[in-house]
Order: sequence, then structure tokens, then C-alpha cells
Amino acid sequence: MSNDTKSNGRGKWGSRIGFMLAASGSAIGLGNLWKFPYITYKFGAGAFVLVYLGCIALVGLPIMVAEMMIGRRSGLNPVGAFKKLTNRRIWVFVGGLGVTCGFILLSYYSVVAGWALEYTVKSVRNDFANHQTITDKDIGAHLFAEYIKTPKSKSDPIKAGYGSELSTISFYDLKSPKAKKAFLAKLAKAWGEFAKGKPEIYAKLKSNTTASLLDAFQRGDDYSSRKLRLQRSLWVGALFGKFVASPAKVVGWHLLFMLLTMLIVVGGVSQGIERASKILMPLLLTMLVYLVIRALGFSSASESLAMIFRPNFHALTIEAVLEALGHSFFTLSLGMGAMLTYGSYLSKDESLTTSSIVITALDTLIALMATIIIFCAIHAFKMPVGDGGVSNLFRAIPAMFQETPGGNWLTVIFYVLVAFAALTSTISLLEVVVSYFIDERGWSRRKATLLMGSAIALLGVASALSLNAWANFKPFFGKTVFEFFDYTVSNWFLPLGGLFVALFVGWVLPVEAKRDELKGLPAVAFGLWHVTIRYISPLAVAGVFVWLLYQSIVA
Ligand code: PFF
Repeated sequence: MSNDTKSNGRGKWGSRIGFMLAASGSAIGLGNLWKFPYITYKFGAGAFVLVYLGCIALVGLPIMVAEMMIGRRSGLNPVGAFKKLTNRRIWVFVGGLGVTCGFILLSYYSVVAGWALEYTVKSVRNDFANHQTITDKDIGAHLFAEYIKTPKSKSDPIKAGYGSELSTISFYDLKSPKAKKAFLAKLAKAWGEFAKGKPEIYAKLKSNTTASLLDAFQRGDDYSSRKLRLQRSLWVGALFGKFVASPAKVVGWHLLFMLLTMLIVVGGVSQGIERASKILMPLLLTMLVYLVIRALGFSSASESLAMIFRPNFHALTIEAVLEALGHSFFTLSLGMGAMLTYGSYLSKDESLTTSSIVITALDTLIALMATIIIFCAIHAFKMPVGDGGVSNLFRAIPAMFQETPGGNWLTVIFYVLVAFAALTSTISLLEVVVSYFIDERGWSRRKATLLMGSAIALLGVASALSLNAWANFKPFFGKTVFEFFDYTVSNWFLPLGGLFVALFVGWVLPVEAKRDELKGLPAVAFGLWHVTIRYISPLAVAGVFVWLLYQSIVA
């Protein structure tokens, strides 16, 4: 976009490719690389991915066309757009909701974007290579921690390899199933005594169990390669834990990322970003393809794939459906006016449907690739994931690249690309807020960017502290500030904004205007889109909301 076309700071895209790069840059970001794999992991994958794909096709894609349509028709920011297209003031509220969402979303998004900067530095320093720091003692402690977490399964040999007796007798030496059973019963009894509160038994059990787990680990086949993988796995975990525990670092990187975003939004150097996108986006794609190939080479890959793609509807909860729905908005930058704002800079000659399809397809492809890579790596390295998956992107990739020739430099490039992908998204988020203040309040671009950018940066500090200093501050339904912001904005406000966009375009915008905007689209395709935007998308969103509210009332 060139900022110089009009004196108020608004402009038009320099080229079709410019728009496509900026809009897909907005869509492709941490949502694809960090959040989708993380929530897929958190919700146990299975049917989650399928529900997400359904949401993308039936809700996300049609609403993207609708949002860009409102933007192009009005040529304005979310608030101004509704004001221009209708007299009913109620719709202006939808625009206001969008601007507010952009404000909050950017505040915590920039925190995670800051992690990518820290990881770029970590890669340059080659921190990930220091896995030897993990000793046998650490491995023993890890095996014990894992053991304690898993339910007591008598048939599982790892679970079975514990107990006070193991200093003299190993489970693995017992050949007959009967002897094994008796042995396990004895151990279960010992643990039972511990459960009744005998701490001295616990101490003994713990040290014996740790010793025997370590013994079993060392006796197995491929000990040295398994040890190396475990060291790498524990090391990348320790590095992440240490980093997020530091308020100064997390806050510092977040502020720096906000500063970068503001510099670009205020400086009108978007053309430079466009130019960089032309190289960096294909590079990101190439790197992901390479990583997918490597990930599929792990011996456990088929299990990982089955976990991602084999639907298990029994395990699907309504919360998971809400998350999948919310994420389809988050990942496509919908429901808060970002695509609307970008559409407002789009020229009449471009096809809204083709643009939307290309962006959606690319976005989905990248999310799925990132998920495949991360799941395969987590399984292959048997990574302990205590935080529900938040750190997955920051463990899986360094661990994988440590096994690749030249991997250290590839890790540097990878995190630079993550940071860049995040930057093209944060630019679009700030642009929504800024364009509102330029158009509606008559502010200059500089003033809007500086004031709003600083306010957002300040709010983001609360999210940054949620991971360390304020980790136990959970005033909102047991959620930290970070979790609460993400939950309310992604899962409720973005779909709500999208619902209004669908209703507006479906029912308020005159049909002639829609036909005019989608000129060139075959009648059947237009009809299909129109039915979806009028009935299917709004009903899907409203249905999930009603279902969830009903459940929370009944429960
Ligand atoms: N779509 C971005 C991502 O997936 O990372 C996040 C985002 C950007 C959401 C812009 C909303 C938005 F307006």
C-alpha cells in the first residue's frame, strides 16, 4: 500500500500482488505456526482438526469474501464502513467491537511474537546445541516425573519398572507373567502405603524407582541415540522454561516487537514489507515443506499423523468446537475488520472470491504443515509437554534442526521467518486501530500510531507477566490475563463480529451491491455463497454460542 496517494494517509494497493501479499501476510502468522498446533495438541487433536476445516470452509471463507466486500464498497475503516453503508447506528457498534478486538488481540499477540525474537537470538548463539548440560540425574528425574504423571497401568513395562524392590531385582528379569504380576502387586502395595501418608516410604520409593527407571532406560536398545534425543528434548524444554520465567526478557521483547510494528505503520514503509514478503513468504513455505519431509521420516510419524487426522467424535467437547470456530476467525484475520480494512484499499478490478480462496487455502496448508511437523517432533523426541502445548513451536523446531546438518543456521532462518510472519500480522492489527482514528477522529497517522501503539504495548505487559510474575494471578474464571484475553477475543468476540458481518452482508446489503462486487462470478457460485452467508455461516456461529451457553446453564 502506498501511503502517499491521499493526504489523510489512506492509499491504494500498488499492485494486485501487493494486496495478496499483505492480506495473506495478515492471515499467516502465529495463528498458523504457534497457535493452531498448540490448540490441536491441547484439545487432543482427533476430530478437532476436522471441525476446524469445516469451520474454515463454511464460515471463514464466505465471511472473508463478505468482509472484504464491506471494505471495498465503503473504502473505509470498520466503523466508517458501516456508517457509510447503512443508516442504522446499531451496525456501527460492530465496527467498534472490531477495533476493540484489534486493540486487545495485538496486545498479547505481540508477546508471543517477542518469543520469536528471543529464539532468533538463541539460535544465533547456538544455545540449542548445549544439550550435554542434561545429565543422567536430570534424565532420571524426568523419567520419574513422567512415571508419576501416568496412570498406574500394570501392563505397561515402563510403569511396571518401579518400586522398592528394584534395587535387587529387575522387572525385566522376570520372565513369567505370574511372577511379574506378583511383583507388581507388591509394588502397588508399597505405593498404597505411601498414599496413606508415609513420607519415608515415598523417599525410598522415589530414589529406587528413579534408579530402576534409569536402569531400564539404559538397558534398552539404541541407548545412546535415545539418550541424545532425550537430552535434546529436555534441554529445549529447560531453555523455554527459563526464558518465560524472566519477566524482563518477555516484557522487553514484547515492547521491542510493538516498537517495530509501530515504526512500520507510522513510517509508511509497507512497500518495503511487501518487497520482503515476496522473498520471505516462499522461503517460509519451502522451509515448512522441508521440515514436513523430515518429520515424516520419524519412525513414529504414522502414529502422529493418525493422532492428528483420525477423528474421534466421542472425545469432542463443545469447548473444543468453540475453540475451532474461534480459531478459524483468528487465523484468517476475520471478525474484527482487518480484512475489511485491507479490502478498503483494494481496487475494483480484483476478484474478491479468488483472493479469498487463495488466502484461505494457503493459510490452511501452512497450519496443517506446522501441525504435522510439531506433532511428529514431539512424539519422536518424546517431549514432556507440561504447559499444554504453548511451547511446542519453541521446542520441536530447535530439536529437529539439531539433527540436521547446518541445522543451527536453519534455526536462525526459521525464527526470523516466524518473526516476520508475525510482523505482517501485527501490522494489520495495528492498521485496523490506526485507520479508525485517522478516518473517524481526524488524527494524523503519526499521532494515531504513537498513542494507540503505546497503549497497546502497555496493555500487553499484563499478558507478558501472566507467564511469570503474575502466573498465579487468575482472576478471570481461573484464567491468567493472557489466557483470558485470548479466550474472550478469539472464541467469542471474533465469531460474534463475524456473525454480524454475515448478517449485514447477507440481509442488509442490497443484492445489486453484492452482485456488483462479485461481478464475473458464475451465477451458481454466487448463489452458493449467498445461501451460505445468509443462513449457514450465521447459524453455525449462533448454534455453537447457544449450545455452549445452554450447557453452561444446565451444568
Ligand atoms: N491471522 C493472524 C494469525 O493467524 O497469526 C492473527 C490475526 C491478525 C488475527 C490480524 C486477526 C487480525 F486482524
